[in-house]
Amino acid sequence: MAKKKSEGYLSAKESRRISRENRKITNEFEKKRKRTDVPESEYLTEMHDPNNAVEFDNLHTYFFTDAGTVKAVDGVSYNVPIGKTVGVVGESGCGKSVTSLSLMQLLQRPQGQITEGAIRLNLGDKAYDVTKAPDSAMQKLRGNVVSMIFQEPMTALNPVFRIGDQIEEVLELHNTENLSEADMKARTIELLEMVGIANSEGVYKMFPHELSGGMRQRVVIAMALACNPRVIIADEPTTALDVTIQAQILDLLRNLKDKINSSIMFITHDLGVIAEMADYVVVMYAGRIVEKGTADDIFHHPAHPYTIGLMASKPVVGKKIDKLYSIPGKVPNPINMPNYCYFKDRCEMCVEGCDGAYPCEVKLSETHYVSCYRYYDKKED
Ligand SMILES: Nc1ncnc2c1ncn2[C@@H]1O[C@H](COP(=O)(O)OP(=O)(O)O)[C@@H](O)[C@H]1O
Ligand SMILES: [Mg+2]
Repeated sequence: MAKKKSEGYLSAKESRRISRENRKITNEFEKKRKRTDVPESEYLTEMHDPNNAVEFDNLHTYFFTDAGTVKAVDGVSYNVPIGKTVGVVGESGCGKSVTSLSLMQLLQRPQGQITEGAIRLNLGDKAYDVTKAPDSAMQKLRGNVVSMIFQEPMTALNPVFRIGDQIEEVLELHNTENLSEADMKARTIELLEMVGIANSEGVYKMFPHELSGGMRQRVVIAMALACNPRVIIADEPTTALDVTIQAQILDLLRNLKDKINSSIMFITHDLGVIAEMADYVVVMYAGRIVEKGTADDIFHHPAHPYTIGLMASKPVVGKKIDKLYSIPGKVPNPINMPNYCYFKDRCEMCVEGCDGAYPCEVKLSETHYVSCYRYYDKKED
């Protein structure tokens, strides 16, 4: 029986007990969320640093499933400074998307809930704690203040509406400038040109299926830019595209970055993709941040064995090798996380302390932080 448990099998009785308990927990959260007359004062907050667009502060996002609690994001803190690009990297399943969905309040509810922590969003004249904001307030922010570029453009576009109408719908929904219909069309054409679509008048009238994958992703990017958002989340925006188109879209995003004053959260499993783009990099592993710093810190002085492994598994142009390095093993089961460093079982650089509890964050420089026992001699306490 004990063995079965450790392998993650549950009896029907056990599973029922878990789902009963989950319902109790999620009902509490949902009751709070669904209130309609929440005064703004409840979710008003202050940025710890006014130069940040977003501050994730000890964010915990859990999924209460019948198999147990998935700690998808378990104590994540990082800042997205205004006008800068932050790359968020890590293998699949590390909690990158769940972090950004928490910011958008687009978690799959009622299972998915933010259980602890704050997400402070800078609105210029004020700041909101997104984790406390009700649905009605979120609706005004989504697409307007924070927008998202998804991985698969076809799922973000509606197949039965023309491209122009879909972009105009975004403008209309958040029409704060009271644009006329002609103004909206002009703005849509302008957006299409901005994302490098030459035949913008033609594409305006087309349906999504008439466009190639790269063109569709450009349209989705145009939609994300439509309302001049303060923060753009790009979640693996090039993963579904082939390599040459991928390079074009990355070029486009790099160019846009200089033209607009938005902050970009660029989520990817591929370190190579953000090398030329990110100002800061956050490395996530199994729901936690293992290392964060400036792009220079991470690319030229990687400290965590996981980051070093990711760097080593990145192909380098012009360097001939027989076999590309891959980090051995896999990410631990998110329902039963070990009570020591989550990366220990895959780590090839363990030191003495590694048997101990999960390592705390060590400050290597003003910008560079790592959670690893190898740097405990630099720890100030
Ligand atoms: N709706 C959900 N229900 C249960 N578990 C989920 C759900 N969405 C994500 N997860 C789990 O949360 C963890 C983090 O997922 P995700 O943030 O999507 O990873 P990635 O870093 O690849 O974007 C994974 O273990 C995933 O299985
Ligand atoms: Mg993801």
